[in-house]
Amino acid sequence: MAYTSNLLQEMADMWSASPESLLNLHLFIAIFIFSIFIAYTLVPKPKNLNLPAGPKPLPIIGNVHQMLNQRPIQVMHKWHQDYGTMVSFRYGQQLAISVGSFDIAQDLLAKRGAIYSSRPEFIIASGMTSGFNSAIMPYSRRWQNQHRIMSSVLDSSAVNRYRGLEDMESKQTLVELLSTDDFEASIRRYAGSIVMTLGYGIRLEGTDNEIPAKLLEINAHPFDAIGNSYYRVMELFPILDKLPGFLAPWKQFAADVERQTTEFHMKHFEIGKAASTWNWAQNALHSNAGSRISSKELAYVIGTLQQAGFEAILTVLRLIIKAIVLHPHCLAEAQRELDRVVGPDRLPSFEDIPHLPYINAMLNEAMRWQPPTPFGIPHATTEDDEYMGYHIPSGTVIIPNIWVMSFNPEIFPDPDEFKPERWIQNPELEHSPFGFGRRICPGRHLGWNSIFILMARLMWAYNITHAYKDGKRIEIDPWAIKLTFTAATVPFMASFQVRSPKKQEIIERDWENVCKDPAQILEQIRPKEEVWG
Ligand code: HEM
Ligand SMILES: *[C@@H]1O[C@H](CO)[C@@H](O)[C@H](O)[C@H]1NC(C)=O
Repeated sequence: MAYTSNLLQEMADMWSASPESLLNLHLFIAIFIFSIFIAYTLVPKPKNLNLPAGPKPLPIIGNVHQMLNQRPIQVMHKWHQDYGTMVSFRYGQQLAISVGSFDIAQDLLAKRGAIYSSRPEFIIASGMTSGFNSAIMPYSRRWQNQHRIMSSVLDSSAVNRYRGLEDMESKQTLVELLSTDDFEASIRRYAGSIVMTLGYGIRLEGTDNEIPAKLLEINAHPFDAIGNSYYRVMELFPILDKLPGFLAPWKQFAADVERQTTEFHMKHFEIGKAASTWNWAQNALHSNAGSRISSKELAYVIGTLQQAGFEAILTVLRLIIKAIVLHPHCLAEAQRELDRVVGPDRLPSFEDIPHLPYINAMLNEAMRWQPPTPFGIPHATTEDDEYMGYHIPSGTVIIPNIWVMSFNPEIFPDPDEFKPERWIQNPELEHSPFGFGRRICPGRHLGWNSIFILMARLMWAYNITHAYKDGKRIEIDPWAIKLTFTAATVPFMASFQVRSPKKQEIIERDWENVCKDPAQILEQIRPKEEVWG
């Protein structure tokens, strides 16, 4: 007893010390749970179903102990090496199957989408977002309704209208890098300004705007809650949620995150509503699907797009810039392609994209080399199923293990290496950084376009190399990745040298001439009444 109360005191101290102690706190909670429940080893064993092979689970906690304090990426990769393409394991009593093959993931999640499109319960992350974040919602009428609103502003025809905005924002990024190497601030502004302008007509004019930092902050906690095994442990034992607040500090914490997130989304939603120009908030309000739900929920529909879109675009841009700095010959190859297709007299445009296969391959390879969402977002089944002789019960969590798929040496030889050529040599190669089936990323067209145009222009304009300090090269660790449920390259330094005085002139001239007024740009985007009703 003294042991437990000491432990609890220690937990409380750590909690008040700093949010960074969260991890340690959760380790203690995990040990705490473990010591309580170890007494209960007499629980019924899960029925002996014909499941894919996998590591032996312990009673009560399943395989969770094997994930704590280790990188789940490595643990799961090893499991796949030991047990095959499909691996069963358990979070407590919850059955999960990790799928390490693109074809099997397509078979299940896409072809059998009718029963593979739900999500596991993310109690804490869902609490942090008022239960209104569509990305972690079960397949339901609410999801369908929200999905309809999102699709109407993110399908490929809608996204083609956003080129004017991406054109202007990428020109600003080019001009910013003439006078600074702080590309991190520039790509944050770029990603943030695109989604905030489309969402609410709020353009981020300078890199000093606080919105990108705020978006990162409200994302960090639910991302952690989805990806971090310690949190998932708490979700396994709903009884923990019944503990009084002082023993369950995460409850207060989740409530604080929820309050901040709601405030953030509602504030911007009101601005978008009041704006005189078209934007996603207004489009949602005037849609049929939007008229059926509360304004708080609507604010979350658009807010979720901000949260997901901003961080995804930022993360992938940072990843590609890292790949470029570490692989100068790839930059040289891309520049040869740009010099040939575009020439020295103008910036690359959207019309050039189909004629830039090498840059296309670089983008694909970056997302293959270090998948931004290594486990996608887990799906869940809603009915029993049979596949390749296996029985897959209703309620099974299905993890599309994008990381394992990406590192399959039979499909991607030398998988650790960044080799854009593989996509050129074999045009049949497939991967799916945007997920699968009905839950596939609805923002993939917007993400792809806004990343492609900026990267093509950056490589056209700049040599991008290692940064130097006091004559010494600042090294970059290729595998410095912050892992939550996303795998995000840790910010690093690089140097941007404009490739010629003439290019500098074009960058300055184009920026001078482009229309920077978000209201005018959004007016161009506003659809004809009959198109989006
Ligand atoms: C640019 C790179 C991006 C990557 C690599 C990416 C990746 C993903 C992945 C893997 C999923 C899960 C799919 C599944 O469940 O099978 C997803 C879902 C989602 N993404 Fe993206 N995404 C990107 C950009 C965006 C953008 C720009 C937006 C919004 C503007 C966005 C909004 C969403 C939403 C709302 C979902 C949830 C879908 C659902 O659960 O129904 N994403 N994304
Ligand atoms: C850019 O890189 C190329 C190839 O490495 C080099 O020849 C050229 O001098 C560099 N230009 C500038 C402005 O640094």
